[in-house]
Amino acid sequence: MTNKDRDAARPWWLDEVLYQIYPRSFADTNGDGVGDIPGIIERLDYLQWLGIGGIWLNPVMPSPNADWGYDVADYCDVHPELGTLEDVDRLVEGAAERGIRIIFDIVPNHTSDQHGWFKDALTGRDARYRDYYVWADPSESGGPPNNWISVFGGNAWEWHEPTGQYYLHNFLDAQPDLDWWNEDVRAEFDDILSFWFDRGIAGFRIDVAHALIKDRALRDNLPAADEDHERLKQHGQRQIYNMNRPEVHDILKRWRKICDTYDPQRILIGETFVYELERWVEYYGTGTDELNLAFNFPFALGQLDAEQTKEVVRASEELIPPDAWPVWMVSNHDIGRGLTRMCQNDPDLGRVLMMLVLTLRGTPFVYYGDEIGMPDTKLRRDQLRDPVGLRTFGEVANGRDGCRTPMQWSAQPGAGFTTSEAEPWLPFGEYSAVNVEAQRDDPDSWLNFTRSLIQLRRESEDLRAGGYQEMDSPDGSWVFRRGDNTVVALNLSDEIATVEEIEGTVRASTTGGRIDEHAPGRIDLQPRQGVVVVAR
Ligand code: GLC
Repeated sequence: MTNKDRDAARPWWLDEVLYQIYPRSFADTNGDGVGDIPGIIERLDYLQWLGIGGIWLNPVMPSPNADWGYDVADYCDVHPELGTLEDVDRLVEGAAERGIRIIFDIVPNHTSDQHGWFKDALTGRDARYRDYYVWADPSESGGPPNNWISVFGGNAWEWHEPTGQYYLHNFLDAQPDLDWWNEDVRAEFDDILSFWFDRGIAGFRIDVAHALIKDRALRDNLPAADEDHERLKQHGQRQIYNMNRPEVHDILKRWRKICDTYDPQRILIGETFVYELERWVEYYGTGTDELNLAFNFPFALGQLDAEQTKEVVRASEELIPPDAWPVWMVSNHDIGRGLTRMCQNDPDLGRVLMMLVLTLRGTPFVYYGDEIGMPDTKLRRDQLRDPVGLRTFGEVANGRDGCRTPMQWSAQPGAGFTTSEAEPWLPFGEYSAVNVEAQRDDPDSWLNFTRSLIQLRRESEDLRAGGYQEMDSPDGSWVFRRGDNTVVALNLSDEIATVEEIEGTVRASTTGGRIDEHAPGRIDLQPRQGVVVVAR
């Protein structure tokens, strides 16, 4: 193999920063207050300027929007509010001209109750698509078949009187779970994958990738125990039989085989929402036969704490198979923005977090708006649109809507997102204070800080491909080497930190005024400050 062949064989996503777009909230071109695919096309120049190499779009398929696109009514079309199949083609083409790939979201765990399959399934026990879903008789005592609870709260079983059985919904009752033991369901999804891959979609983010297949005997889940993750304790039970089954790996392997038949190879990114790193790494399989990237929730759900976060990264690095590749994300449309959740909206710490995500070994994800330092938007209950937020408001401030508010492009009425007259589908955040236009020409802005880090990563072999090695550092700080010549030094504490054994030139800094500074073997970091130092 020549060097050139080897470069050509290197998957593109190892070298690129990926960007998540919540399509309803990115850019609205028809003045209905809802973002659309033509809006994303119009902003491709911006994304190219930012330096990203791929976009993950939350679901764009037709949906009654009980769960905002995560209840799919047709897997091979586009929701009319968001655009058309031709718009998707134009998006793929326009993005490719700018070196950007388009990744879709696929929701294989469940469909909408408005999907043709489910509508048919309700017509009788012998219906053609009845067995596409998980149906069960009442338990002996007459209630639901077992004790499973929905991720969104309440019983996971819905009674269907006309046919005298329950159907399973791990999420809303409008999201019936598919039965992945059924070979026909598998074959349907093989075709759905090919449909989009043939249109030039570069890959999929797989919704609840760990949940697809259920225990065949529908055994009861066990109660959560003291040692379990806080979130599991709140939920009440260990999700060991209604998800996280070993057989899910067969499905992911099957999908990986399909991806590998395409050139360039298509990518699979899993929403592997598991709380233990030992479980997380399993979704990489041997490193080459399952997911290409598996989201690391133990990392994303933690606080930004030098000791704890470092420990999660250290353990992740130790556990991940040598041929697999990490992925780092701290914000998304469910868990909220890292700036708010992990940094309590402290902008200095927020930039340190951005530096961390963009300099660890692995593929970084940036959630739309994070590049300008948008925090979660505070909303009143009457402003919420997310069914989960409406159920839990008060327990979880803002629900999931606070991180789904429109992209803040400018200080004009409509925020550059929509027209000045339109009512946006979710309220705006503080767009006069935080927006792209105001930051674009300011060299010290959050936006230019993010962009310069992305550029540095693109230019630096160490940051793209070099190994990760933790170095000794003062309390409250975190210093690691990438490759041979690059050191990332992050001070997460409120004290000045003096970092030793660091020599070279500052190439990136979370605060202005330090670029090109020489570090002669040690460097003082201000509280909540981070730098990238390159030896030569
Ligand atoms: C995933 C999605 C979330 C959705 C859920 C059910 O967790 O990210 O938004 O509500 O699956 O589809």
